[in-house]
Amino acid sequence: MTDVFWAGVAIACLLYFVKWKTDPLNSIPTVGGSSLPLLSFLGAFNFLVNSKRLLQEGYKKYYGSVFKVPLLEQWILIVSGPKMVEELRKRPDDELSFYAGVEDSMQIRYTFGPESNDDPYHVDIIKEKLTRSVPAILPDVIDELYNAVPQHIPAKSDEWLEIQVMPTMQQIVARASNRVFVGLPVCRDQEFLDLAIKFTIDIVKDKTLVKLAPQFLKPLVGRLSNHVRSTLYKAIPHLKPVIDERRRFMEKYGDDWPDKPNDMLQWIMDIARTRDFSDEAIARRIMLINFAAIHTSSNTVSHALYHLAERPDYLKPLREEIEPIIAEEGWTKNAMGRMWKLDSFMKESQRYNGIGLGRATGSLTRKALKDVTLHDGTFIPRGSIVMAASDATHHDDSNYADADVFDPFRFSRMREAEGESTKHQFVNTTLDYIAFGHGKHACPGRFFAANELKSLLAFIILNYDLKLGGDGSRPPNMYFGLAVVPAPKGKVLFKKREVVEA
Ligand code: HEM
Ligand SMILES: *[C@@H]1O[C@H](CO)[C@@H](O)[C@H](O)[C@H]1NC(C)=O
Repeated sequence: MTDVFWAGVAIACLLYFVKWKTDPLNSIPTVGGSSLPLLSFLGAFNFLVNSKRLLQEGYKKYYGSVFKVPLLEQWILIVSGPKMVEELRKRPDDELSFYAGVEDSMQIRYTFGPESNDDPYHVDIIKEKLTRSVPAILPDVIDELYNAVPQHIPAKSDEWLEIQVMPTMQQIVARASNRVFVGLPVCRDQEFLDLAIKFTIDIVKDKTLVKLAPQFLKPLVGRLSNHVRSTLYKAIPHLKPVIDERRRFMEKYGDDWPDKPNDMLQWIMDIARTRDFSDEAIARRIMLINFAAIHTSSNTVSHALYHLAERPDYLKPLREEIEPIIAEEGWTKNAMGRMWKLDSFMKESQRYNGIGLGRATGSLTRKALKDVTLHDGTFIPRGSIVMAASDATHHDDSNYADADVFDPFRFSRMREAEGESTKHQFVNTTLDYIAFGHGKHACPGRFFAANELKSLLAFIILNYDLKLGGDGSRPPNMYFGLAVVPAPKGKVLFKKREVVEA
C-alpha cells in the first residue's frame, strides 16, 4: 500500500517537473518569487503583501520588457515602458483580448452569464449616449448631490463631525450615478443602492471560488456560490415598476415621446428591445454598469479627499478657483472644464494612488488568445494574462518630476504652457498615464466620472472645512496583490462652512 502511495507521489512529482521544465513561461524572468514549483506558491503569498514594492522592482529591472509575478492561481505577465504599453494598446483583440482578460479576472461567464461580454452594447451606450449627454444630465447629478451630500455629511458649523470616508463616498456616488442610470425615485431607494454597492463584493466573492475551481466544475461552482445572482434577483423588484412603466410608453409611442427619459435605463431598453428584453436582462446591465462605476469612482474621490484633509491649505487656492466660476455660470459642464486646479488635483491623486497596481480589470489587462511574440522578441504563450505596471509607471521620475511627491497642481501648471492646455486633463490618457487604461478599451465612463466627481469635490470644498483627526497623517492606502484601496476605515472631520453662497 505504502509502495503504491510513494510510486504515485513520484509520478506526480515527475509530471509536475516535466510540466514545469517545459513551461514556456520559464523564459520570462520572475519577480517576487521563484518559478520553481512550491516556491512559486510561497512567492504568491509574498507578492500579496509586497506587491507595490515588487512591481516597482520588476519595473526598474526589466524596464521596456516583460517580467512575471505570482498570484495564487496563476502567473501574471507585467510589461513596462511606453513601447510595451503601445503594444498592448495596438494588438488586435484576437491576439491580446480585452474581454478575455475581463473574463479571466472576473469569471463573469459563470456567475453572471456570458451576455455582457459577448454583446457589450452598454459600452456603446456609455460612449455614445452617456458621454454626449453630460452637459444635459449634469444638472440632475448636481441636484442629487445637493440632496445626498448634506444627508450623508450632516456637519454643523460650530463643531467637527467625524465621517468614515469610504462608505460615505460609496453612498453619495451610488446615488448621484443612479440618478443618471435609473432616475428618480429608484436612485433614492436605499435598499436598491445597497444592493448596487454590494454587487461588486458579490462578484469578487463568486469569482474567487470559480477561479480556483477546475474548468469542468466552474459552471457548478458559479451556481453554488450564488452571491451575484442572488443580489441581481433582489434588485429586480426595485427596478420592475419603472421598467414596466417604460415598457408601456414604448408600446404606446414607439421610439419617441414627449418627455422621454434621458437616462441609462431608457438607453438600455431602446437597445434591449431587439435583443433579450426580459426584466432580468435589463437589470443585469444596470447592475453591471453600477459595478463598473461605483467603486472605481468612490475610491477615486476618497483618495482625493484624504489628500485634501491632510493638507487643508489646498482648500484656499481651490476655492479661489471654483467660487468665481460657479458664480459666473453655475454648475455646468463648461464650468467644470474651466476648473484646472480641481481637475489637476483629481488627476494627481489618481496618478499617485491609482485604482490598481494593475487593478483587477485595469490598466490594459489582456489575455493572449494565441501565441504572441512581442516586438522585443518576448514569447507570450496562449492563455497568458498580460498587464501594464500602472503604479510603477506613475511613480517613475522620468515620467513625472519627483514622482513620489503628491503635487496637486502639477498638471494645471503643465497646462499653462503654450499648446498644452488640453493635454493634461483628468480624462486624457497617454502612454505614461494609464489609470483609465489607454486606447480602444480605455474607460468609456471617464468623461461622466470626471464631471460627477469634480462636481462632488467642488461641492464639498465650497460647503465644508475638513481636516484629519489623530496625528494628521493621511490614512494609508491598502495594497493587496493587484489591488489598492483607500483606507477602508479612514475618517475625515467635516465642519459646515457658513460663508457659502453657491
Ligand atoms: C474614476 C472612475 C473610474 C475609473 C478609475 C475607471 C477605470 C477603468 C479602467 C482602468 C478600465 C479598463 C481600461 C483598459 O483596460 O484599457 C475601465 C473600463 C471600463 N469602465 Fe471605467 N472607470 C471609472 C468609472 C467608470 C464609470 C462611471 C463607468 C460607467 C458609467 C465605467 C465603465 C467602464 C466600462 C463599461 C469599461 C469596459 C470598457 C470596454 O468594454 O471596452 N467606468 N474603467
Ligand atoms: C484630451 O481630452 C480632451 C477631452 O476629451 C480632448 O478634447 C483632447 O483632444 C485630448 N487631448 C489630447 C492631447 O489627447
